[in-house]
Amino acid sequence: MCGIFGIVTKEKQKLGPTLIEAGHRLSYRGYDTVGAATIPPEGEIDLRKDVGKVQDVADRLKFSEMSGQRAILQLRWATFGAPSYTNAQPHLDSDGNMVGAHNGNVVNNVELRQQFMAEGMTVRSENDGESCVHAVERYINQGFDMVEAIRHAYNDLEGDYAFVIGKIGEDRLYAIKKGSGLIAGVTEGATCIASDLPSVLDITRNIVRLEDGEIITFWADGYEIRKVEDGSVVERQPELVEDTMEAVQKGGYDHFMLKEIHEQAQVAQELFHLLENSADVDPMIARIEAARNIYIIACGTSYHAGLLGSVYFANLAGRVTIPVLAPQFIAQYAPAVGPEDVGVFVSQSGETKDVLNAIQVAEARGMGVLGLVNVVGSSLMRESEYYVPLACDYEISVPATKTFTNQVVGFLYLALRMGGHDTAPLANLPRWIDETIEAVEQQIPAVEGKISPWDDLYCLGYGLTYPIALEGALKLKEITYAHCEGMLSTEFKHGPLSAVTEGYPVIFVAGPDDIPLIVSGINEVTCRGGRAIVISEEDSRLRVNADDMIVLPTVEAPDDMRPYIDALLSVLPLQLLSYKISLAHGYDPDFPRNLSKTLTVD
Ligand code: AGP
Repeated sequence: MCGIFGIVTKEKQKLGPTLIEAGHRLSYRGYDTVGAATIPPEGEIDLRKDVGKVQDVADRLKFSEMSGQRAILQLRWATFGAPSYTNAQPHLDSDGNMVGAHNGNVVNNVELRQQFMAEGMTVRSENDGESCVHAVERYINQGFDMVEAIRHAYNDLEGDYAFVIGKIGEDRLYAIKKGSGLIAGVTEGATCIASDLPSVLDITRNIVRLEDGEIITFWADGYEIRKVEDGSVVERQPELVEDTMEAVQKGGYDHFMLKEIHEQAQVAQELFHLLENSADVDPMIARIEAARNIYIIACGTSYHAGLLGSVYFANLAGRVTIPVLAPQFIAQYAPAVGPEDVGVFVSQSGETKDVLNAIQVAEARGMGVLGLVNVVGSSLMRESEYYVPLACDYEISVPATKTFTNQVVGFLYLALRMGGHDTAPLANLPRWIDETIEAVEQQIPAVEGKISPWDDLYCLGYGLTYPIALEGALKLKEITYAHCEGMLSTEFKHGPLSAVTEGYPVIFVAGPDDIPLIVSGINEVTCRGGRAIVISEEDSRLRVNADDMIVLPTVEAPDDMRPYIDALLSVLPLQLLSYKISLAHGYDPDFPRNLSKTLTVD
């Protein structure tokens, strides 16, 4: 994701080193271009930017020589417009009097660019950060001052973003928050803003947190916050942040895993907006639709998302896809694939060796390579003809959570589009995710203790919830160290039922359309003394048969979409349950023993 930083200092000074440091601090967010600008009181804005890593770009373009009292830095993670010099941020306005940069997505970027050109402005790139600058320029041209121009621009710029902007002839910078992160830092002789707290803590611990719909004007020794809505001044003093850097990075949660679970609504929202406006989606769909065979290839959690994607494609788009673990693709299918086929490769890291091996074999046979990938600039992203970026920011915790959800959202979106369905209801996903997390968090303590003493259990699902059961079992294995097998519920009676003894826990994940079948499965377990724990929407048939229930709130999705949404939401209690049981055992869920986040070995 992009990151922005802006600073105003009392004295003219070499700002290059401060900008390079800010770049390093923001770089954990992921990026593919780097840019910086200093804004003199008069003369020309010094703008330097390019594709590459912070140190590489800073060395090549001699950032260390940049000086002044006002500066902006931006790391860009490409969404609108390819990673290039032109699309790199910051951006100038038409006559080079203003410079600005953003973090986030302006989803009506294409329409805005056409309007700006029609109004005679000089539009140099395809990037939506440039639209933020021209949106302000539009109102400056009409005679408004900077704050008023930004207030008007806010209404024109749709999406989730934060941006910072400065103008020649002044001593200040301006920043606005709408959906994306923005904080300000106040220190002796300087005021700064940044996308997140960890990016400024080395400079100052006096922090002002901005809220959505607020504009901050900041100068060397002060700032003023105003509401966009009515222009009124907001009084807010800086707060002293005393937490350690690690605690700050965890965003107030005890573990990265919990933070990442709670970020799922936000990342789903960002992905949905991105997909609605991505130039890659249509060609990617065309490539999938034209294929003879469609393979979905991945490992671990990403494979489970692909498995659910495969159910979505069949049910919503009438297309058969072949979900397969990457090494098995090589062993089983690779000899039979060719240029008529495509593989949708799914990976958080984009560097999993098993997946890269499969790509290599697929490419050697001329098969098309498409990607669903989180890490920007990763091998998978580079190898893909078209890709859906998962837009999850960094996922630090070893157990994948938010990337699973966005992989599933990505597949659901593609399947809906391919089947000619309306994607608009997905705009409610963030709310449904938050409501589900809130509802199930309260229910976990009642069931946690029924499971945690056992080091052996099953997690069963059927149809849409089968991939969720596999994913829940993987989460439980990964961070509680218990042996938890995920399985199709109907298979349980074909052998594993013999494991059931008094109190033996079996988790059932039940979709709204499969309840009679799940009820049969529950009774096979409970009549042998086993304990059936059910995850589903409230249902009297399940309530009377199960020992315990974790109830998912009933979301207001259209009836024909509800089972698909329910499946996606039913992973949330399993993530939280695994997390809680891991803690009950005294384990560190973020860094489970023997595992690493990215498996770059065979
Ligand atoms: C999930 O919690 C695991 N950490 C693991 O299964 C992971 O999904 C797998 O190694 C694949 O990684 P990738 O998505 O980065 O390719």
